[in-house]
Amino acid sequence: MNQQIIGKTHSSTVAAIEFRGVAKQFAAKGRSAQVQAVVDVNFSVALGEVVSIIGPSGCGKSTLLNMGAGLAASTEGQVWVQGEAVRGPNPHVAFMLQKDLLMPWRNVQHNIELGLELRGMAATERATIAQRLITQCRLNGFAKHYPHQLSGGMRQRAALARTLAVDPLVLLMDEPFSALDAQTKMILQQDLARTVLAEGKTVLFITHDLVEAVALSDRILVMSERPGTIVQEIRVDIPGRGDPMQRRKHPGVGAYVGQLMDLLKLDAHTEVH
Ligand SMILES: Nc1ncnc2c1ncn2[C@@H]1O[C@H](COP(=O)(O)OP(=O)(O)O)[C@@H](O)[C@H]1O
Ligand SMILES: [Mg+2]
Repeated sequence: MNQQIIGKTHSSTVAAIEFRGVAKQFAAKGRSAQVQAVVDVNFSVALGEVVSIIGPSGCGKSTLLNMGAGLAASTEGQVWVQGEAVRGPNPHVAFMLQKDLLMPWRNVQHNIELGLELRGMAATERATIAQRLITQCRLNGFAKHYPHQLSGGMRQRAALARTLAVDPLVLLMDEPFSALDAQTKMILQQDLARTVLAEGKTVLFITHDLVEAVALSDRILVMSERPGTIVQEIRVDIPGRGDPMQRRKHPGVGAYVGQLMDLLKLDAHTEVH
């Protein structure tokens, strides 16, 4: 499927996803004034690249992803996916959130198959894809379990499997692991990184966890306070992007984290007022 998209644009140099001059203003509603969430956002993510966005709370990170997923329209500029303007939800982009949004009345397999079912795929074909992802996301033995019977980490793995089932070109992930405990989070990062590398997926990932950003990403984009814009781009020059467990142990991680802390001006928040 991805091959077709690449073929259509006649170039593999077209970015998987690109934000060009993007701004978003929320209209005034009732007593609340209008909000300029993001301004002049320009960046692109190449095919197969993993890029993280970090920035202060409320700076417009989720707003950016919503526009990328076609769930919200920009007020200026345009988001492009493989050279095509995003005008609404589209099958090339999948979204994964902190809350897993699994359907409680569907078991793991049927949750994974949901998007395929909506596309009218035959049951046997769906089951084959679900089984492959159940293995890949290490959910063997849990296909018939319901979400309430799973741990938080397993639910997020099921959500990841469901996201991957529809074979999207770009995965947009909004703090997908932030509700998990530290160790479960590391395991999920490992699952994600391996899968993304194996399948050549493009990922745009939002996190508050600076080490997570360093462990997972090819590049990190740092946003300013609202109205949010990209103020810095950092290329992570540590080997082993498919193996964040190892990457975390690399002595270079601390320097990146320090640089990110400085850019986020975290020290300023510890001053006595
Ligand atoms: N639907 C909306 N209507 C009005 N304001 C919104 C809406 N969504 C987000 N905002 C505002 O836009 C700003 C950015 O929000 P958001 O993108 O959620 O930030 P982040 O994800 O970086 O924490 C915030 O000030 C938020 O209150
Ligand atoms: Mg957010």
